[in-house]
Amino acid sequence: MKITLIRSLLSLLCLALSACAGTSMPVNSLRGSAAATADQAPLVLSYGGRKPGQFALIERSFKGQPPLIPHTLEGIGEITGSENDCLDCHISEDFRGKKMPRVGQSHLLASASAGAEPELNMQRWQCNSCHVPQVEAMPLVENLFQPDAAR
Ligand code: HEC
Ligand code: HEC
Repeated sequence: MKITLIRSLLSLLCLALSACAGTSMPVNSLRGSAAATADQAPLVLSYGGRKPGQFALIERSFKGQPPLIPHTLEGIGEITGSENDCLDCHISEDFRGKKMPRVGQSHLLASASAGAEPELNMQRWQCNSCHVPQVEAMPLVENLFQPDAAR
């Protein structure tokens, strides 16, 4: 008796489900693929050709924002606790005679003596956890954020 009841309940459920499936609208992800299929990987956009020294700084959007990286990171080695190519250029104000934006004072240890080489505060070793490079990509949804660096 119990089994028959469960069976008929199950067949009702199946009927209801197939009716819904028949009339439902396809649901698409923001990237355009059907939600039921495996999501497609986003396009790989490159930073090609934008070497350091060729681009103006990107205006900051709010006070205290880590500045965005205006140049490509191609050819710049992986950042580890002991190796950091970023510092070749960014620990001092000049690199091979060219003017460079130097890391904020907040990134450096207070020097023991005047004129000593600036030393990175290791709380800041992983530059790319705060500073990110840019690509030309359309936002998936409208963004109403109003930049206001003065606030
Ligand atoms: C070969 C030198 C060089 C290397 C290596 C380099 N940069 Fe730069 N960086 C520059 C120059 C020059 C600028 C000024 C903008 C420009 O001309 O591209 C700059 C700009 C920036 C800025 C913007 C600063 C501001 O005030 O807006 C950030 C942030 C930055 N770089 C982070 C990094 C990080 C993180 C790395 C390592 C992954 C790195 N850079 C590696 C030379 C370099
Ligand atoms: C925890 C987040 C964080 C990390 C990690 C970090 N930064 Fe920054 N950086 C900031 C913020 C926030 C600012 C802007 C305020 C300031 O100077 O402290 C900044 C400013 C800068 C500037 C512009 C300085 C100026 O005065 O305009 C440069 C260049 C820079 N960082 C490079 C680096 C490099 C290279 C590394 C890795 C060695 C690094 N940052 C690691 C958050 C970070």
